[in-house]
Amino acid sequence: MTVARRDLLLGSAVVGLAGGIAPVPLVAADRRPADGAGALPMPAPVDRLPSALPVQDAARVLMDSGWLFHEGDVEPAPLDTHNATYLSVKAGNARGAAAVDYDDSDWQAVDLPHDWASFQPFVKTANVAQGYRPRGIGWYRRSFRLDPRLRGRRIELEFGGIATHATVWVNGSVVSHNFSGYNAVRIDLTPFARFGDEANVVAVRVDANAMEGWWYEGAGLYRHVWLGDYAPVSIATDGVHCDPRKRDGGWHVPVTTTLTSIAPIDASVTVEARLLDPQGRLVAQGQAQAAVTSLDEGGATLDLSVADPMLWSVERPTLYTVHVRLLRDGKVADERRVPIGFRTLRFDAAQGFFLNDRPVKLKGVCLHQDHAGVGTAIPDALLGWRLERLKAMGCNAVRSSHNAPTPELLDWCDRLGLLVMNENRQFNPAPEYRAQLEWLVRRDRNHPSVILWSVFNEEPMQGTPSGVEMVRRMAHWVRALDDSRPVTAAMNGAFFDPVNVAQVVDVTGFNYYQGDYDRYHQRNPDQPMTSSEDTSAFMTRGAFESDPARHIASSYDVEAASWGDTHRGAWKKIAERAYVAGGFVWTGFDYHGEPTPYEWPTIASFFGIMDLCGFPKVAFDIHRAAWVDDQPVVAIAPHWSWPGREGKPTKVMVLSNAERVVLRLNGKTVGEATVDRLMGNEWTVPYAPGRIEAIAYRGGREVARTAHETVGAPVALRLTPARTVMAGDTEDAQAITIDAVDAKGRHAPTANLMTRFTIEGGAIIGVGNGDPNSHEPEKGNQRSLFNGLAQMIVRPDVGRGRITIRAVADGLKPASLRLDRLGVSPRAQVATVPAEIDLRDWRRSPRFDTRPAADLAPAASDNNGWAFVRAGTPTPAEPAGWRLYRTVLTPRRAVAGRGGELSFAQVSGMASLFVDGQLVAEKRDPKPGPLTATLPAGEGKRTIALVVAGLGNVESGLIGRVTVRPR
Ligand code: GAL
Repeated sequence: MTVARRDLLLGSAVVGLAGGIAPVPLVAADRRPADGAGALPMPAPVDRLPSALPVQDAARVLMDSGWLFHEGDVEPAPLDTHNATYLSVKAGNARGAAAVDYDDSDWQAVDLPHDWASFQPFVKTANVAQGYRPRGIGWYRRSFRLDPRLRGRRIELEFGGIATHATVWVNGSVVSHNFSGYNAVRIDLTPFARFGDEANVVAVRVDANAMEGWWYEGAGLYRHVWLGDYAPVSIATDGVHCDPRKRDGGWHVPVTTTLTSIAPIDASVTVEARLLDPQGRLVAQGQAQAAVTSLDEGGATLDLSVADPMLWSVERPTLYTVHVRLLRDGKVADERRVPIGFRTLRFDAAQGFFLNDRPVKLKGVCLHQDHAGVGTAIPDALLGWRLERLKAMGCNAVRSSHNAPTPELLDWCDRLGLLVMNENRQFNPAPEYRAQLEWLVRRDRNHPSVILWSVFNEEPMQGTPSGVEMVRRMAHWVRALDDSRPVTAAMNGAFFDPVNVAQVVDVTGFNYYQGDYDRYHQRNPDQPMTSSEDTSAFMTRGAFESDPARHIASSYDVEAASWGDTHRGAWKKIAERAYVAGGFVWTGFDYHGEPTPYEWPTIASFFGIMDLCGFPKVAFDIHRAAWVDDQPVVAIAPHWSWPGREGKPTKVMVLSNAERVVLRLNGKTVGEATVDRLMGNEWTVPYAPGRIEAIAYRGGREVARTAHETVGAPVALRLTPARTVMAGDTEDAQAITIDAVDAKGRHAPTANLMTRFTIEGGAIIGVGNGDPNSHEPEKGNQRSLFNGLAQMIVRPDVGRGRITIRAVADGLKPASLRLDRLGVSPRAQVATVPAEIDLRDWRRSPRFDTRPAADLAPAASDNNGWAFVRAGTPTPAEPAGWRLYRTVLTPRRAVAGRGGELSFAQVSGMASLFVDGQLVAEKRDPKPGPLTATLPAGEGKRTIALVVAGLGNVESGLIGRVTVRPR
């Protein structure tokens, strides 16, 4: 049933359900060898695919492929006549690049996600906060067909997010003005839709000069686009709310379903909800009746109860599914599958956060949404990999700072067991922004990962009566849609002001101001609190000496913003206070833009625990030691390859979660100490080449050891994937590490040479190396190693096969890597349609008793004498006579250059066809039939005139489609 529906939308596209891959646990432990001497500082590759993200709404089909992109604005030609002006303001008649028949044949073909800013060079005069990348304006267009059998169904187009301000047209009518880069844009296409052979054209103008943040925001259609096909009475988008509640000693899943109708008549329907356990077994079910008024909404609430479900937790993120079906006349008209998790949460003013009545300290990070090479256009698989990297560090929480996350982030967090502080972008209770906030809550309130709603980040009005009024309203709207999660606001000050927003939220969010924790808690002993943001420390990955002149920050965790603290200092203040629920390190990964503490030529931040590529800094081991409880951790900084340093005192840090640690240099014990899990242990030793080793003990027993060795000159390159297999679905993506190794195959941590790549069976969609000062392009097939490492992001071709990657560098042995591309059905995509122009809009003369001249035309200001008619709409039966049909065509490049074929599918009556006054074809048979002619090559406007002789008493004229195709 579903597949049949999809077929209608898909045309000739490949049909396949997402994944088709057996679910496998996602998180690989950080499998660095215990004795890591010379090992790559990245996990060993795994030999399986990540499991596919859940398909929640089978009626939606991706529309990520087949877009055309134009960088820069497109000004429509000036309106030169009264008639053109009159027509320009009519529905369906958008002009310029928004017009249905605009010639986009020289636009660039792109697939989504797409961030055009990531292709830009770094320019000193461009905005510093956005990473010195020109942003500008861009246009996208996409065509598709809808099967005539879809008439009467609800067709919805959804953009996951468009950076930044967007105007969307469908078939020449403007359908959305959207003023945020972080909310979805949903459009009910139904009234605008065209069915059958005629194409539907979506045009989007994106103004990325508009900014909503002080960080790199990307530009364009950087999230997925979907086309949904629903029954006339259907479940509204985000129309199922089914977040479980623990009550009366058992669990309940209140399922509230919102229904929407475009049907011509009122309907009565049945809503059925089934709760399925992780194995798909039925656990509970219920049914309710609902009435839905035509062109309105209806709803049904029912309650599923279950006594003792498996709980969702950080360690075991068990997901159940609520399967809602809408039955009309006994048939399934619509359905949704919503993953849910059974867990309780509460913030306690004295004891912090509790999940399932157990205290859980929030070991969190703040995230922006860009990565090296791809900017904000992060493929789902790469996003999952980034979150796995966090999980491997013992992180259990993320904050979507400072905006609604991409929905796939929450899907991953549900599955990985990451808790989410979900943040709103615009602090503003005006209707448009209220709608954005409410959209966020509706979209995300079923996710077990979401534990906290944040209405703002650092707003100067936080200590004013006006700010309080704004938060009061916004918190109220959030609670009205979700009474199960607390509301916070990430404040940076005003905590002690007589009037401040902490008075109207459930949990006080502290950005920095860690010195005020105790005082605040004493004065507000009943108010739960968390650090919503902390740290803001600086580290350059792989560098161990600060060099302000070269914009380099040491990795010994000694540098931090004046308002922040080092990684160790910030976490210590949180770890030592039970009443502080936890923290969110600014940031998990470096991000483009907001270069701090150094500006140009620096283009990215230094705040990350990992760099732009997800390569770990020392901060990764600092947090691993502090955060990982279930496996022993021991790590050493720095690396041990310092030619020229012989004999010089060298600081060595050991990070561990064990009890005692011993440091050995070339077999000799040079330090021994009780582990300081939060601050690490430090020694200064005279550098000697060889092997430095740390051994960690618990209860007198060795539990882990690690080492660095002094490596020789690099002799060869190495390519290391995250996975040895990829899905041959064009959507999968993974980061591949490039490093140089010495003669013994050991990672060379100081190599900084240029490397160049080739690939077969896939594409390189971005490159990076984590250097915040590098201006090398992030697209292309080369990248220099930075402190030993570089990265390429690879996307597979479609189908089963191999991906072969080679890397070369001057003077080194090249590396080559072969990955298996598995034959996985790609997720279905809405098919694109070939470029052809529909000549839809015609002027039709009055009826004449005698044959009119072919050059007869309506007067310039005639809105009424000559009718506006659409090809395909017959002229009703009338007495025999003559009518003239006229239109003006500006051929697309291919037709203008090579000539084209002008084709009337059906003309009723005898007809003579003229192009620019020249007779080009005749139809002598009055019965309905086709008429074709050659359109000679030529630029500019062409006048098409069709003189039709109607026989009388039958429909006449343009009864079919009229098209122009290149020859
Ligand atoms: C905070 C802000 C973040 C980032 C950070 C840098 O004030 O919330 O977005 O700017 O400072 O330290």
